[in-house]
Amino acid sequence: MAAFVSTAASASLDYPEANTLVPDGVKRYEVSAFPERVVLLPGQNSATEHSVSWRTNSAVEHSIVQISRAENTPGLHLTAYQVTGDYTVLETENGVAHHHQVVLDELQPDTLYAYRVAGDNTWSDWYQFRTPATEFADYTALYFGDAQNAVRSHYSRTVREAILTAPRAKVMLYAGDLVNSRYGVHDDEWGEWFDSAGWMGASVSQLPAAGNHEFVEDEHEYRHLVEHWPAQFKVAGNGPEGLQDTVYYVDYQGVRYIALDSTEALQSDEKARLQADWMREILADNPNKWTIAFHHHPMFSVSLGRDNPPLRNYWQPVYEEFGVDLVLQGHDHTYGRGHDIGVAADPEASGPMYVVSVAGPKMYLVSEQAEQSMNRNAEDVQLFQVIDFTADTLAYRSFTVTGELYDAFDLVRNEDGAVSVTDKAPDTPEIRCTNPSPMRETRCWNGTELIHAPVSGKGD
Ligand SMILES: [Fe+2]
Repeated sequence: MAAFVSTAASASLDYPEANTLVPDGVKRYEVSAFPERVVLLPGQNSATEHSVSWRTNSAVEHSIVQISRAENTPGLHLTAYQVTGDYTVLETENGVAHHHQVVLDELQPDTLYAYRVAGDNTWSDWYQFRTPATEFADYTALYFGDAQNAVRSHYSRTVREAILTAPRAKVMLYAGDLVNSRYGVHDDEWGEWFDSAGWMGASVSQLPAAGNHEFVEDEHEYRHLVEHWPAQFKVAGNGPEGLQDTVYYVDYQGVRYIALDSTEALQSDEKARLQADWMREILADNPNKWTIAFHHHPMFSVSLGRDNPPLRNYWQPVYEEFGVDLVLQGHDHTYGRGHDIGVAADPEASGPMYVVSVAGPKMYLVSEQAEQSMNRNAEDVQLFQVIDFTADTLAYRSFTVTGELYDAFDLVRNEDGAVSVTDKAPDTPEIRCTNPSPMRETRCWNGTELIHAPVSGKGD
């Protein structure tokens, strides 16, 4: 029997929880027999290698993927073959989880596959994905800055608008701080992140870089990568010794993506140099048409009071010597795009193009230096980026969460191999902080306060 209950429009909510929608004592993300958090990552040779990871409860002691060429018939089980892997055990507030990982390393290039993963006497959905071709061919990638806070309530809006804007994107790239776990791991936050990625995480090749919030400090203030990271993301694993969980490269249909670990680089010069040396090695032999580096902390900071000189000392010379085309970053909770700030604000200068963006709701303020030296800045706006690779053009566009074009440029590879830049930023005002009560001198929004922000009146 249904009952209709009317509540007063003025009813107020006063929840004390911050940064999670899961109230104390409630388990929204409890482990179960059902496979969940299914995520697909490319290997170094992505045309033939991808890994699949997912989570179940501890009853599932087998790590099994069934995969078939995707045909129109629902009889996928008749043509599927089985691949097995292994799992890591993680104990969190949501129970004892088995995080399974299987490597699919005998894939055919440019082929549509369907796969499913095993639970306890049950299976996941059949997910479908097309492997990249071995040579360059046109495609689209999506790039996201930090999600970090209010992930399900606010970041999900960005990621959904992105996939509606570029529904055939083959790659989703993340510049770190997927969640906020720096001060202690919260499995609920990862639940929110995977809910936001949804089926896309399992059907679009994911390229995550780790941010400082994927690290937890010990009593000596030394940062250690959270256990969730390697358990959930089986990256290509071809990075330098000791950094293979976060530093890697992937060749994807004529584009080389290089993920770096800026958190480790900033806490140890040795690890910054190690990554630079490794980059030199892999860039000495790079047959790809375009090269993209991505990491969390920016080379040229956008936000007030921030600067990361070691990254410029160790990495900028490598980017310039080997012609890295684009450097995609996060951490500053603002938007900024431009060349080396030493080159000044000529939008069509040559050299690597640096971008900082933000996908979640934590918002900082732009520094005067960034305002003067970058081609485009923003505060107080959630953004996503669409990168189209076509023939000799890399077309970059940044969209706001409501789908408006905010920034754009083309990189065009000339016949002599040099790259020219065409600025295509729309002639619209730069967005600035609108919060009537900014949170700190350097912040427009903290991000965490937004989940239970009171709703005032009818709006306008
Ligand atoms: Fe960060």
